[in-house]
Amino acid sequence: MTRLSYLLTITPRETLRLARQRLPFFKNSRAWTAKELMSSQKFTRGIRFAEFLMRQEAIARRSMPFPAFDFEGKRVVEVGCGPLGGYGPLAIFRGAASFESAEPEWDASVFEEHEIIEKYLRIFHADLVALYGQRMEFGEFHEALRSKMQVHRCGFEAAPIEGPVDIVLSQSVLEHVFPLEQTVAKLAVIQSAETRFLHLVDFGNHYPTADPFDGLYSVPPEEYIRKRGRAINLLRPPDIARMFEEHSISARVIPSRILLHGAQGAKVPPWSEKYDADALRVQLALVAGPDSDVKRT
Ligand SMILES: C[S@@+](CC[C@H](N)C(=O)[O-])C[C@H]1O[C@@H](n2cnc3c(N)ncnc32)[C@H](O)[C@@H]1O
Repeated sequence: MTRLSYLLTITPRETLRLARQRLPFFKNSRAWTAKELMSSQKFTRGIRFAEFLMRQEAIARRSMPFPAFDFEGKRVVEVGCGPLGGYGPLAIFRGAASFESAEPEWDASVFEEHEIIEKYLRIFHADLVALYGQRMEFGEFHEALRSKMQVHRCGFEAAPIEGPVDIVLSQSVLEHVFPLEQTVAKLAVIQSAETRFLHLVDFGNHYPTADPFDGLYSVPPEEYIRKRGRAINLLRPPDIARMFEEHSISARVIPSRILLHGAQGAKVPPWSEKYDADALRVQLALVAGPDSDVKRT
């Protein structure tokens, strides 16, 4: 898919946002306006984080002991929570003592904006009440977000987050981080052997193509990144498994979507040499732990 055909698949507002981000004049302006966020189908549904968690816990549980997360009194960290705080509101609603994240696109005033409060937080709160019970009124919830959520506007590797933490989460972030090595090194510093973690990684091309691997394996990764920009790092599941292992984090990489009909086209080296066919057909995978079956060094 060319850049032009990609631009034709997104809304005019999103096209304008992408254009604005590339202009030097707007370099330090906020990455998202409330209007842009609230016109995105993806961002307006905060409860999607509860849905992700339930699905991912269930998939992890098929491979390893993986009880549902208990957030009560826990220190929770998310890598790249996104412009609306990702798992933060859910973790706080479910009793987390604190929620910390690092997100380059964060704007601390977001939860004070009328449009975000009315169209996002109130609905997210109502959906959380339906799912987990009336744990707190909306006012109390909003106040808890102010006092218990801390998001650093920088890359995770540079964030002043200290351990040990109880829970680490991320949703479609590890594939966007350059270089991922430093982030995994940071995780190794703030995690203890008891820290529970769950990362969802999306190995597709991030374009709305029928085959999510379309265009990925017909050129070497460096060439793909040079042409398309530093949007996805093109690591595959074995690379991520190795990185966690090298940093002594006992993790299990669990495919959560394997597309046997995908990635059928010709593959150039290093794709054809470095990976087996299975690794190239995993579109989604979980990195879950701690994995008690992995020997700690
Ligand atoms: C696909 S978005 C996912 C956002 C959010 N987790 C969600 O599911 O809505 C990827 C996010 O990774 C963030 N990101 C990229 N590099 C990062 C880094 N080094 N540290 C933390 N976040 C990063 C981007 O700013 C972006 O918000």
